[in-house]
Amino acid sequence: MHISVALALCSLLAAHGIRKGSLAPSGAVAAFAVGLVTFVGARDANLLFAGVLIAFYLLGSKATKYKQERKRQLEEDFRVGGQRTATQVLANGFTGAAACALHYVLVPNPALACFGDLSSTASRNHTLLILLYVGHYACCCGDTFASEIGVLSASEPVLITTGKRVPRGTNGGLSPLGVAASIAGGCVVGLVATAGLPLAPTCASRLAPRAAMVALGGAGGFIGSMIDSLLGATLQKSVYNTVTAKIAADGRALRAGENPAQLRHISGIDVLDNHQVNFLSSLATGIVLALVGLVCYG
Ligand SMILES: *[C@@H]1O[C@H](CO)[C@@H](O)[C@H](O)[C@H]1NC(C)=O
Repeated sequence: MHISVALALCSLLAAHGIRKGSLAPSGAVAAFAVGLVTFVGARDANLLFAGVLIAFYLLGSKATKYKQERKRQLEEDFRVGGQRTATQVLANGFTGAAACALHYVLVPNPALACFGDLSSTASRNHTLLILLYVGHYACCCGDTFASEIGVLSASEPVLITTGKRVPRGTNGGLSPLGVAASIAGGCVVGLVATAGLPLAPTCASRLAPRAAMVALGGAGGFIGSMIDSLLGATLQKSVYNTVTAKIAADGRALRAGENPAQLRHISGIDVLDNHQVNFLSSLATGIVLALVGLVCYG
């Protein structure tokens, strides 16, 4: 994408985020940077890279808006619209932007590269970097859907490591609605990627990998939510505030007027925060999808 178009589009997205409250000012700056790298790095493949990023951004904002009044009662750090900070944006955007930048460097002529073909280095680089990108966003979109929609589940989730019921919002808690939302989020990313995959004339016969992208996205959403939940249940500390009946925000200090006895430890040790879990699980999901591609298309 030409840099002037990319700059215009990024300004539009950042302004939209601030106006709608989905981005805090720091988050808008980070989103601008992620968008710029992604849109400029994409070139001919821009419909896939840019389309996935824009779809994730718009759907994530919509999901956050969904039943906000109920979420206000459930989430201790509830913020209208989401107000995502730079750390949050980068946890969900850095790997994608890096994959896109690598694609720019390692696939010099995208018009000659075929997705699903590992026989030339250009096509292999193209295929693996697209899978890294799709896996990353499938995980992020699945995770966003799961936390924004899964939190509204009628039943309490069970902890992935023990199978015991835990309060809503516990890191590593799984509910059927949350898992379904993760898979749906991944499928949406796969669908947008399929639609945006460049149609190089030389690759016309390769329709199967294109169709498989939807399933790969759904698998990415599922795998991502499992990795996310495993990390969340073990290396992230979940503390339940018995007075407000909410899970306390990550590793926060005791607030004025609070009695330490009202905070009950549910699960995990304090090694990672939510952003680090998101960053690691989406990176791992991208790598898993690239490995799946190596096996399936090799
Ligand atoms: C594909 O990536 C490798 C590094 O992983 C690089 O050495 C190679 O030159 C790339 N292929 C092309 C066509 O640039």
